[in-house]
Amino acid sequence: MPNARPDPNTATGRAARGREPPRDALELLSEDHRTVEDLFEEFESEDDTDALGALATRICAALRVHTQIEEEIFYPEARTVADDDTLDEAEVEHEGARRLIEDISRMQPTDPLFRAKVKVLGEYVKHHVREEEQELFAEVRDGDLDLDDMGARLAARKAELERDAQTA
Ligand SMILES: [Fe+2]
Ligand SMILES: [Fe+2]
Repeated sequence: MPNARPDPNTATGRAARGREPPRDALELLSEDHRTVEDLFEEFESEDDTDALGALATRICAALRVHTQIEEEIFYPEARTVADDDTLDEAEVEHEGARRLIEDISRMQPTDPLFRAKVKVLGEYVKHHVREEEQELFAEVRDGDLDLDDMGARLAARKAELERDAQTA
């Protein structure tokens, strides 16, 4: 299969990597999902210990910001148009992911369970993302929320959290 990863040197590639403002909330969140999926894929094919550590750090940082903007902005607003059970499950899945993220953040790449923890987090996130995109996003798309406005607010909060993480 040809390399499906977007070329970062083209406008489409940059947009696909989330470096240009996406049009709406669901696009922004989906782009985040593709970004972490790419990082998990890179992790799977990496052997160098330092590179594994750096990838795990990027995965954890990206997931912390993504789950936070969903919990602060997307989930509460989605709750006004989508099924409560879907959102309750999503929040419980975030709690589970957060425990793994905190475990991984405290580990060294040489720890015996390091790779396994990241792999399990990857499987966990894949399952969660599938449910979000197939169930929750579909319900939200059918609702009457202003997704462009929400997309702008998600992007602004994401940029703020990324800045905070860099200066922490
Ligand atoms: Fe989520
Ligand atoms: Fe998500």
